[in-house]
Amino acid sequence: MKYHSIAIDGPAASGKSTVAKNLAKTLNYIYIDTGAMYRATTYKAISLGIDLEDQNAYDFLNNTEFVFKDGELYMDNLNMSVLNRLKAVANNVSLVASHKPVRNKLVELQQAIAKQSNVVMDGRDIGTVVLKDADLKIFMIASVEVRAERRFNELNKLGLKHTQTLSELIEDIQRRDDYDSSRAYNPLRQAEDAELIDTSDISIGEVTGLLYEKYISKLKGEI
Ligand code: DC
Repeated sequence: MKYHSIAIDGPAASGKSTVAKNLAKTLNYIYIDTGAMYRATTYKAISLGIDLEDQNAYDFLNNTEFVFKDGELYMDNLNMSVLNRLKAVANNVSLVASHKPVRNKLVELQQAIAKQSNVVMDGRDIGTVVLKDADLKIFMIASVEVRAERRFNELNKLGLKHTQTLSELIEDIQRRDDYDSSRAYNPLRQAEDAELIDTSDISIGEVTGLLYEKYISKLKGEI
Protein backbone atom coordinates (compact mmCIF):
# COMPACT_ATOMS: atom_id res chain seq x y z
CA MET A 1 0.00 0.00 0.00
CA LYS A 2 1.25 3.47 -0.92
CA TYR A 3 0.91 5.98 1.88
CA HIS A 4 0.47 9.71 1.43
CA SER A 5 2.87 12.37 2.67
CA ILE A 6 3.22 16.11 3.02
CA ALA A 7 6.70 17.66 3.36
CA ILE A 8 7.12 21.03 5.06
CA ASP A 9 10.57 22.60 5.22
CA GLY A 10 11.84 25.98 6.25
CA PRO A 11 14.08 27.87 8.66
CA ALA A 12 13.68 27.83 12.46
CA ALA A 13 10.31 28.96 13.86
CA SER A 14 8.78 29.75 10.46
CA GLY A 15 5.51 28.27 11.70
CA LYS A 16 6.01 24.92 10.00
CA SER A 17 5.56 22.79 13.14
CA THR A 18 2.22 24.33 14.07
CA VAL A 19 0.93 24.10 10.50
CA ALA A 20 2.20 20.52 10.15
CA LYS A 21 0.65 19.50 13.47
CA ASN A 22 -2.74 21.05 12.59
CA LEU A 23 -2.76 19.56 9.11
CA ALA A 24 -1.93 16.11 10.49
CA LYS A 25 -4.75 16.38 13.00
CA THR A 26 -7.28 17.44 10.36
CA LEU A 27 -6.23 14.73 7.93
CA ASN A 28 -5.74 12.08 10.62
CA TYR A 29 -2.11 11.62 9.49
CA ILE A 30 0.88 11.12 11.78
CA TYR A 31 2.86 14.29 12.51
CA ILE A 32 6.62 13.78 12.46
CA ASP A 33 8.70 16.64 13.86
CA THR A 34 12.16 15.75 12.54
CA GLY A 35 13.76 18.74 14.32
CA ALA A 36 12.71 17.08 17.58
CA MET A 37 14.72 14.00 16.59
CA TYR A 38 17.88 16.10 16.02
CA ARG A 39 17.26 17.91 19.31
CA ALA A 40 16.70 14.67 21.24
CA THR A 41 19.89 13.24 19.72
CA THR A 42 21.71 16.35 20.94
CA TYR A 43 20.19 15.96 24.41
CA LYS A 44 21.32 12.34 24.62
CA ALA A 45 24.81 13.15 23.29
CA ILE A 46 25.22 15.83 25.97
CA SER A 47 23.88 13.48 28.69
CA LEU A 48 26.33 10.77 27.63
CA GLY A 49 29.19 13.26 27.68
CA ILE A 50 30.47 12.36 24.20
CA ASP A 51 32.61 14.72 22.14
CA LEU A 52 29.90 16.51 20.13
CA GLU A 53 32.39 17.43 17.41
CA ASP A 54 33.30 13.81 16.73
CA GLN A 55 30.95 12.55 14.02
CA ASN A 56 31.91 8.95 14.82
CA ALA A 57 30.78 9.19 18.44
CA TYR A 58 27.06 8.84 17.69
CA ASP A 59 26.80 5.03 17.58
CA PHE A 60 24.37 5.26 20.49
CA LEU A 61 21.72 6.06 17.84
CA ASN A 62 21.70 2.35 16.94
CA ASN A 63 20.30 1.66 20.43
CA THR A 64 17.95 4.61 20.67
CA GLU A 65 14.20 4.39 20.26
CA PHE A 66 12.19 7.26 18.78
CA VAL A 67 8.40 7.08 19.04
CA PHE A 68 5.88 9.78 18.07
CA LYS A 69 2.65 9.82 20.08
CA ASP A 70 0.05 12.55 19.48
CA GLY A 71 2.67 14.73 17.81
CA GLU A 72 5.11 14.46 20.72
CA LEU A 73 8.44 12.69 20.57
CA TYR A 74 9.41 10.05 23.13
CA MET A 75 13.07 9.03 23.11
CA ASP A 76 13.73 5.81 25.02
CA ASN A 77 10.28 6.36 26.64
CA LEU A 78 11.20 9.89 27.78
CA ASN A 79 8.88 12.71 26.68
CA MET A 80 11.20 15.20 24.97
CA SER A 81 8.84 18.23 24.65
CA VAL A 82 10.41 20.30 27.40
CA LEU A 83 13.93 18.79 27.42
CA ASN A 84 14.27 19.54 23.69
CA ARG A 85 13.83 23.27 24.39
CA LEU A 86 16.76 23.51 26.82
CA LYS A 87 19.32 26.16 25.90
CA ALA A 88 22.20 23.66 25.79
CA VAL A 89 20.25 21.70 23.19
CA ALA A 90 19.44 24.80 21.08
CA ASN A 91 23.09 25.86 21.20
CA ASN A 92 24.45 22.55 19.93
CA VAL A 93 21.76 21.05 17.69
CA SER A 94 23.05 22.60 14.44
CA LEU A 95 26.49 21.09 15.04
CA VAL A 96 25.02 17.66 15.79
CA ALA A 97 22.71 17.88 12.75
CA SER A 98 25.66 18.65 10.48
CA HIS A 99 27.20 15.17 11.00
CA LYS A 100 26.65 12.79 8.10
CA PRO A 101 26.28 9.59 10.22
CA VAL A 102 23.66 11.33 12.40
CA ARG A 103 21.69 12.54 9.37
CA ASN A 104 21.87 9.17 7.61
CA LYS A 105 20.55 7.34 10.67
CA LEU A 106 17.70 9.78 11.37
CA VAL A 107 16.69 9.98 7.69
CA GLU A 108 16.53 6.16 7.60
CA LEU A 109 14.18 6.16 10.62
CA GLN A 110 12.03 8.94 9.12
CA GLN A 111 11.67 7.10 5.80
CA ALA A 112 10.74 3.89 7.64
CA ILE A 113 7.87 5.69 9.42
CA ALA A 114 6.60 7.18 6.12
CA LYS A 115 6.55 3.68 4.56
CA GLN A 116 4.06 2.55 7.19
CA SER A 117 1.67 5.47 7.57
CA ASN A 118 0.32 8.69 6.09
CA VAL A 119 2.51 11.48 7.43
CA VAL A 120 2.97 15.21 7.62
CA MET A 121 6.70 15.70 8.19
CA ASP A 122 8.51 18.94 8.89
CA GLY A 123 12.21 19.77 8.93
CA ARG A 124 14.98 21.11 6.68
CA ASP A 125 15.56 18.34 4.13
CA ILE A 126 12.19 16.61 3.88
CA GLY A 127 11.33 17.72 0.34
CA THR A 128 14.92 17.38 -0.91
CA VAL A 129 16.06 14.14 0.78
CA VAL A 130 13.65 12.32 3.10
CA LEU A 131 10.41 12.37 1.08
CA LYS A 132 11.43 13.22 -2.47
CA ASP A 133 8.08 11.84 -3.72
CA ALA A 134 5.86 13.68 -1.22
CA ASP A 135 2.35 14.50 -2.51
CA LEU A 136 2.77 18.12 -1.45
CA LYS A 137 5.98 20.05 -0.71
CA ILE A 138 6.00 23.40 1.04
CA PHE A 139 8.90 25.70 1.89
CA MET A 140 7.81 28.07 4.65
CA ILE A 141 9.58 31.31 5.49
CA ALA A 142 8.96 34.39 7.70
CA SER A 143 10.98 37.40 8.82
CA VAL A 144 13.47 36.72 11.63
CA GLU A 145 11.60 39.09 14.00
CA VAL A 146 8.28 37.29 13.50
CA ARG A 147 10.00 33.95 13.98
CA ALA A 148 11.75 34.99 17.21
CA GLU A 149 8.47 36.25 18.61
CA ARG A 150 6.77 32.95 17.80
CA ARG A 151 9.56 30.98 19.50
CA PHE A 152 9.34 33.32 22.51
CA ASN A 153 5.61 32.64 22.86
CA GLU A 154 6.21 28.91 22.47
CA LEU A 155 8.78 28.95 25.30
CA ASN A 156 6.34 30.98 27.36
CA LYS A 157 3.67 28.30 26.95
CA LEU A 158 6.13 25.64 28.08
CA GLY A 159 6.96 27.69 31.18
CA LEU A 160 10.46 28.40 29.84
CA LYS A 161 10.13 32.10 29.01
CA HIS A 162 13.10 33.07 31.18
CA THR A 163 15.53 30.80 29.38
CA GLN A 164 16.10 33.21 26.44
CA THR A 165 15.30 36.88 25.79
CA LEU A 166 13.79 38.01 22.49
CA SER A 167 17.10 39.44 21.25
CA GLU A 168 18.93 36.24 22.25
CA LEU A 169 16.34 34.29 20.28
CA ILE A 170 16.85 36.49 17.20
CA GLU A 171 20.60 35.87 17.41
CA ASP A 172 20.11 32.14 17.99
CA ILE A 173 17.72 31.82 15.04
CA GLN A 174 20.04 33.74 12.70
CA ARG A 175 23.05 31.72 13.76
CA ARG A 176 21.21 28.42 13.24
CA ASP A 177 19.80 29.52 9.85
CA ASP A 178 23.31 30.37 8.64
CA TYR A 179 24.70 27.11 9.94
CA ASP A 180 21.83 24.94 8.64
CA SER A 181 21.92 26.55 5.17
CA SER A 182 25.67 26.38 4.75
CA ARG A 183 26.46 22.89 6.06
CA ALA A 184 28.07 20.60 3.50
CA TYR A 185 25.73 17.61 3.82
CA ASN A 186 22.02 18.04 2.99
CA PRO A 187 21.67 21.74 3.87
CA LEU A 188 18.40 23.63 4.32
CA ARG A 189 17.22 24.24 0.77
CA GLN A 190 13.93 24.68 -1.06
CA ALA A 191 13.15 21.67 -3.27
CA GLU A 192 12.58 22.60 -6.92
CA ASP A 193 9.02 21.32 -6.78
CA ALA A 194 8.20 22.92 -3.40
CA GLU A 195 5.89 25.89 -3.08
CA LEU A 196 7.22 28.94 -1.22
CA ILE A 197 4.93 30.40 1.46
CA ASP A 198 5.82 33.53 3.45
CA THR A 199 3.97 33.45 6.79
CA SER A 200 5.17 36.86 8.08
CA ASP A 201 1.82 38.55 7.46
CA ILE A 202 -0.69 35.73 7.56
CA SER A 203 -1.82 33.81 10.57
CA ILE A 204 -0.80 30.22 11.08
CA GLY A 205 -4.50 29.29 11.06
CA GLU A 206 -4.92 30.82 7.60
CA VAL A 207 -1.83 29.03 6.28
CA THR A 208 -3.18 25.72 7.58
CA GLY A 209 -6.53 26.26 5.83
CA LEU A 210 -4.80 27.23 2.61
CA LEU A 211 -2.57 24.18 2.58
CA TYR A 212 -5.43 21.87 3.48
CA GLU A 213 -7.43 23.05 0.48
CA LYS A 214 -4.41 22.86 -1.79
CA TYR A 215 -3.65 19.32 -0.67
CA ILE A 216 -7.22 18.07 -1.11
CA SER A 217 -7.39 19.59 -4.62
CA LYS A 218 -4.08 17.93 -5.43
CA LEU A 219 -5.27 14.52 -4.23
CA LYS A 220 -8.41 14.91 -6.34
CA GLY A 221 -6.17 15.66 -9.32
CA GLU A 222 -7.57 19.18 -9.70
CA ILE A 223 -4.13 20.81 -9.72
O1 DC B 1 12.95 22.61 13.64
P1 DC B 1 13.88 22.77 14.85
O2 DC B 1 14.23 24.20 15.14
O3 DC B 1 13.37 22.06 16.06
O4 DC B 1 15.24 22.04 14.40
C1 DC B 1 16.35 21.95 15.25
C2 DC B 1 17.63 21.82 14.44
O5 DC B 1 17.68 20.54 13.80
C3 DC B 1 17.83 22.84 13.35
O6 DC B 1 18.71 23.86 13.76
C4 DC B 1 18.42 22.09 12.19
C5 DC B 1 18.23 20.65 12.50
N1 DC B 1 17.35 19.94 11.56
C6 DC B 1 17.93 19.43 10.43
O7 DC B 1 19.11 19.64 10.18
N2 DC B 1 17.17 18.68 9.58
C7 DC B 1 15.88 18.45 9.81
N3 DC B 1 15.16 17.71 8.97
C8 DC B 1 15.27 19.02 10.96
C9 DC B 1 16.03 19.77 11.81
